[in-house]
Amino acid sequence: MSVGIIGLGRYMPERVVTNFDLEKQMDTTDEWIRTRTGIEERRFADDDVNTSDMAYEAAKQAIEDADIEAHQIGLILVATVTPDMPFPTVATMIQEKLGAKNAAAMDISAACAGFMYGVITAKQFVETGVYPYVLVVGVEKLSKITNFEDRNTAVLFGDGAGAAIIGQVSEGRGILSFELGADGSGGKHLFQDGPYLEMNGREVYKFAVRQMGESAENVIDKAGLTKDEVDFLVPHQANIRIMEASRQRLGLPEEKMSKTINQFGNTSAASIPISLKEDILAGRVKDDDVVVLVGFGGGLTWGAICLKW
Ligand code: ACO
Repeated sequence: MSVGIIGLGRYMPERVVTNFDLEKQMDTTDEWIRTRTGIEERRFADDDVNTSDMAYEAAKQAIEDADIEAHQIGLILVATVTPDMPFPTVATMIQEKLGAKNAAAMDISAACAGFMYGVITAKQFVETGVYPYVLVVGVEKLSKITNFEDRNTAVLFGDGAGAAIIGQVSEGRGILSFELGADGSGGKHLFQDGPYLEMNGREVYKFAVRQMGESAENVIDKAGLTKDEVDFLVPHQANIRIMEASRQRLGLPEEKMSKTINQFGNTSAASIPISLKEDILAGRVKDDDVVVLVGFGGGLTWGAICLKW
């Protein structure tokens, strides 16, 4: 059985915060942020909009896009490190709101690689015939764990949600191969042990450049394809320089890589589904395209998928 993404949705909060807005708040410049990260602006959710609200909006859109009913969903997986509260989970909160009364529900914590972990977990349940449809959401309200006194991290992150319905697709399409991995020894480079996220940017950068390229190459190989058969790359939107390094390693031209970091910053687990949805809406990803999704995050964790759209 072939399994793939059959519907996508995304939600971005309305409030736009530009680099110039941040210049007024801390010792930074638009020039520094743009050249070091590729970010021009990001979205922050208002105080009365929580993670589950954004997840619900994206999920609703994905369900409509897949042309299914909420009660047909067998499992809801929400990848987030910024849930409304430790429990109940965001997954159960949206289960109730969506009316997905037949769905089991849980959150997944794999930081920025969370959406990849979610999609691959979902694939197993669909492939084995256990559930016909699994809803996977990547969602973060990173603004609530961002220390606006720390310019090293405060300029990087944004809020948002992306969602996908995983289900059966026609033979030969959908997910062709995947890779998931973790290296707990790097946990000290990116963590939250108090109110705010903390990061050793340089260490994360080095890891990400190496891992994104390697994982992308591995899934292309596992799918029995070569780099020149890849049509499009959707990397986790963490830093344009990290993204560029993986694009160049695959030998793809600039227009064949997803880029939403300029508009949305790093939205962690939400960045890949948000970007993929934008690319589909803009016609950059078309039917039968071979697409590589690749992400990395705190843990350290990583994941990549090679799929035929
Ligand atoms: N404005 C102005 N100057 C700044 C800022 C800022 N916002 N932030 C740091 N600087 C300064 C530093 O203090 C440093 O000054 P110094 O040399 O006087 O000490 C200088 O700029 C250079 O700092 P570096 O850390 O060397 O800058 P670098 O080019 O490495 O870029 C960055 C930093 C953007 C954080 C980069 O290391 C990076 O992208 N790392 C990966 C981060 C990442 O991907 N995180 C998320 C991963 S997973 C997840 O999404 C949760």
